[in-house]
Amino acid sequence: MKNETVVIIDFGGQYKELIARRVRECGVYSEIRPNTISADELARIAPIGIIFTGGPDSVYAENAPSCAPEVFKLGVPLLGICYGMQYICHTLGGRVAPMGKNEYGTLRAILDGASDLFFSCPGEQKVLMSHGDTVESLPEGFTATARTERCPVAACENRALKIYGVQFHPEVENTKNGTEIIRNFLYSVCGARGDYSMADYLQKQISAVRERVGDKQVLLGLSGGVDSSVCAALLSKAIPGQLTCIYVDHGFMRKNESEEIKEVFGKRKLRLVCVDARDRFLKRLAGVTDPEEKRKIIGDEFARVFEDEAKKCSADFLAQGTIYPDVVESGTHSAVIKSHHNVGGLPEKLGFKGVVEPLRGLFKDEVRKLGLSLGLPRSIVYRQPFPGPGLSIRVIGEITEEKLDILREADAIAREEISRSRSKADQYFTVLTNTKSVGVMGDGRTYEYAVALRAVQTSDFMTCEVARLPYPLLLKISSRIANEVKGVNRVVYDITPKPPATIEWE
Ligand code: XMP
Repeated sequence: MKNETVVIIDFGGQYKELIARRVRECGVYSEIRPNTISADELARIAPIGIIFTGGPDSVYAENAPSCAPEVFKLGVPLLGICYGMQYICHTLGGRVAPMGKNEYGTLRAILDGASDLFFSCPGEQKVLMSHGDTVESLPEGFTATARTERCPVAACENRALKIYGVQFHPEVENTKNGTEIIRNFLYSVCGARGDYSMADYLQKQISAVRERVGDKQVLLGLSGGVDSSVCAALLSKAIPGQLTCIYVDHGFMRKNESEEIKEVFGKRKLRLVCVDARDRFLKRLAGVTDPEEKRKIIGDEFARVFEDEAKKCSADFLAQGTIYPDVVESGTHSAVIKSHHNVGGLPEKLGFKGVVEPLRGLFKDEVRKLGLSLGLPRSIVYRQPFPGPGLSIRVIGEITEEKLDILREADAIAREEISRSRSKADQYFTVLTNTKSVGVMGDGRTYEYAVALRAVQTSDFMTCEVARLPYPLLLKISSRIANEVKGVNRVVYDITPKPPATIEWE
């Protein structure tokens, strides 16, 4: 049975995924669709509610994004956020105009407790405002239900039509009770029952996979990353005995990582093929120093190894750990195959009958929850992002086995200390620079490598801040690496944000 669904219509706002996640956190399934979605498609989905996102445009500008006018006639409850509210007002006969001076930041708002959206909120609270236009006059039948000092229409509604708007952003943490406001829309206005949970998702996917696959065999490329790991755990439960996982050890994994993958997945009801391709990769990379060249060679070699192994397995379906943000980013909800640098184009090339993507509907935090419920260890479920080419792009310059060993040891120390300290860093690792420097140990001169420590704070990995690790922690890491790792006599801390630097060094 299909879940109750809320459709989020995307007008180009930066918080669309956040809105979708908040709705799901409230127990209601949500999907993001472009503003060009047709009325027919919407009717087919039969949502219990529709949310318009914010967006960077002015509703009165030429070519401002709009949506099918029928949306207003479906009789489905509607909530417009920021641009979404202005678009509702503009379309239904109100007037939207520039404010003169933008209103931006977390501001005090007065909320009308009689509104369905705000009945459980205090009469006065902080909300995040970010707009340059404002609703100057409301469409007929609408009333204003919130205001700030400079914005008389910070929210509005037409209760009879079940159309609501908020100028502020309830989806962000800076808005107090924001999730509560979304919950009120879902349960008090849309009449949601709240039938969406990870347990339910899992059961539905298990049935769907069984139906699609029948008694055929499925192949999955297992990298040890969160998505492919959870995918493997789910499939081994859905179709035990019909799943083969190929794990390619390219030799650029971190300390003990390959062993952990073998240990965790060796116990599950699947066939695990571990391909030791370390020599193959090292040989092809001999003498290569250019970062892009390294990546290209690794991607190419990976595809070759995977192809060779896949041919031996004669599976009918290829499983992939595609998750919802990949689907949204690709801008289409049709059958997209994730263009992962490792396996791009493989399904067609290898003659698979079809692709199985059981995580296609999930956000990363939901994938993690599912992973835990499937019994995967936290070390895998909460793994930091790790680039496909692995440590090869953290060894600057030519890659050798000796350099990889040095980096593995240094990296293990840094990760152990930072994770133990519970410092606030979203990604942290070490880089083996290609620089040697003079040092002194005992009475002797040394001439060894300098290791760079990188620790960043970020939510989207598109930009980052440098993590402000405490000095005692930095000194401990430095001392341990210089003392315990042979081949290193100096540790430096990378204090560059992104931009101008990237997170990785190559
Ligand atoms: P950069 O270095 O571009 O990294 O600032 C941003 C985030 O992406 C990760 N990263 C990769 N992930 N394959 C991946 O799956 C790659 O080739 C790759 N390169 C970088 C990086 O670790 C950071 O989290």
